[in-house]
Amino acid sequence: MTQDEMKKAAGWAALKYVEKGSIVGVGTGSTVNHFIDALGSVKDDIKGAVSSSIASTEKLKALGIEVYDCNDVALLDIYVDGADEINPQREMIKGGGAALTREKIVAAIAKKFICIVDSSKAVDVLGKFPLPVEVIPMARSFVARELVKLGGDPVYREGVITDNGNVILDVHNMHISQAKDMEDKINGLPGVVTVGLFAHRGADVVITGTPEGARVEE
Ligand code: A5P
Repeated sequence: MTQDEMKKAAGWAALKYVEKGSIVGVGTGSTVNHFIDALGSVKDDIKGAVSSSIASTEKLKALGIEVYDCNDVALLDIYVDGADEINPQREMIKGGGAALTREKIVAAIAKKFICIVDSSKAVDVLGKFPLPVEVIPMARSFVARELVKLGGDPVYREGVITDNGNVILDVHNMHISQAKDMEDKINGLPGVVTVGLFAHRGADVVITGTPEGARVEE
C-alpha cells in the first residue's frame, strides 16, 4: 500500500463517526482531502461543515457541501483532521500546511477530535518534524530569537502567508517531552498567534492507515 492509500483508508474510516443531520468540523491536508471525498458521498445526510482553511472550504463547496461560518456554530460533535506527528499521549504537531490557527479554533468547538494519519506520523517524542509557529509579521525576528532561547532552530517559511495574513516559523531540532508546557511557553510570546502543538487539545480518537487497512483507537 502506498502512503496515499493509507491516508485514504484513514480518511474513509472516519466516516463512521459522522452523525446524520450534523455539522462536521473539517481540517486541512492531503489526508483530510480523502475524508472530504468520503463526506461528499453522504452529503445529503449531513447539514454541512465548518472548515479550517480556504483550501478545504473550496473542496467542500465543490462537492456541494454547505460550509458554515465558525462564529455561527457553538458546538460540533466531531472535528476530523490530520497531523504531522502524533505521540502515544495523542499530542500532535500540526501546521505543515500552515492552517494551524484555524485548525485549533475549530478543534476547540468540537466535542471529539478524530485524528486521521498514515502510520508514518506516529512518533514516541514530538519534534523531529519542524514545529510550525504562526507569527504576526512584525514580530518575526523577536519571536525567532525567543525560540532559540527555548532550544529550537527557527526557519522562516519563505513565500508562505497564512489564511490570516501572517507568517510561519518552522522550529527545527526540538525534543518536546513536555508538550503542554512548550505549548504554553510559545503561545505566551508576544506576536505568536498559535503554535502548532496540539497538546492541551489532543486527539480523542486516532485512525491510522496501515498496510493492513485502517486501525481505530478510541
Ligand atoms: C495542516 O496545517 C496540517 O495541520 C495538517 O493536518 C498536517 O500537515 C497533515 O497533513 P497531511 O494529511 O497532508 O499529511
